[in-house]
Amino acid sequence: MSRGEPDLSVRIGPLVLKNPVLVASGTFGYGDEYAPLLDPSGLGGIVVKSLTLRPRDGAPPPRLAETPAGMLNAIGLQNIGVERFISEKLPFLRGYDTRVVVSVAGETTEEYGELAGRLDLDGVDALEVNISCPNVEKGGMLFGSDPDSAYEVVSTVRRATSKPVIAKLTPHASDVAKVAEAVREAGADAVSLINTLVGMAVDVETRRPKLGNVTGGLSGPAVRPVALALVWKVASAVRIPVIGIGGISSPEDALEFLIVGARAVQVGTATFFRPRTALEVVDGIREYMERHGFGSIDELSGSLEVRR
Ligand SMILES: Cc1cc2nc3c(=O)[nH]c(=O)nc-3n(C[C@H](O)[C@H](O)[C@H](O)COP(=O)(O)O)c2cc1C
Repeated sequence: MSRGEPDLSVRIGPLVLKNPVLVASGTFGYGDEYAPLLDPSGLGGIVVKSLTLRPRDGAPPPRLAETPAGMLNAIGLQNIGVERFISEKLPFLRGYDTRVVVSVAGETTEEYGELAGRLDLDGVDALEVNISCPNVEKGGMLFGSDPDSAYEVVSTVRRATSKPVIAKLTPHASDVAKVAEAVREAGADAVSLINTLVGMAVDVETRRPKLGNVTGGLSGPAVRPVALALVWKVASAVRIPVIGIGGISSPEDALEFLIVGARAVQVGTATFFRPRTALEVVDGIREYMERHGFGSIDELSGSLEVRR
């Protein structure tokens, strides 16, 4: 590869992405809402809104609250269910030249396994196992905060699918690197982190919580330094690729994650404010690699200079 033309493609276990930028689960729907605003074929991949076996209505309104440098959400995994996804959304997503990563969630280990088996289909390029949602009473973050239960869920998914498996981790585990190591042993090809941080806001005039669910998940620029430190920690500790998520709104933000050891990144909340952010991040990473003489993402990933 000539120095003037960096190769942006990246391997996440058996999954090859044309560039290291995906859009995060829950912030890009099933792709169709955003297709008029940006060409999905420019993305490394799309992670669709987490699916459950049956459709879910989600949490009571209000479901969103703005915060300084971020937002709180308590959607509660509202989704159309796996069958409607397969019949109504997957054919459309297959039409784009990008990787389709399907996020799965459940209340029991068996539910994750059943979902993974049902999604072992053409057009699904990988599964992201959501063991980190903070807005549900059962499952979600409860599975991801403990290495043993994370192992159980991921090994069940691993047995049920031939697809690459990415485990999505929560910042609320007492030791995220231990959870990452547990899911690697369970057969995960990669980990992605972070899902949102639990947060809360109160309307002081009514003294009511601003969210119907009382607490919600904090996302956006406010969480970026927390996410970056955790990605650095996990990437230094485990041998599988790490996908960095949390507050990425510019190429520089994404580069921080790659430099500390992420092999790819996901753009979430920023898409709500500027739908083309993820594509701008792809262009900015390319420009930076040209300027600094990086030929590949592997050279850039983990290139942090630490002086202690
Ligand atoms: C409105 C909203 C809905 C989300 N829904 C999901 C979801 O269904 N599954 C999931 O794994 N993460 C979900 N997330 C978390 C994001 O994928 C991401 O991990 C988190 O927001 C941090 O990235 P960001 O700061 O770039 O948004 C959601 C986030 C937001 C803001």
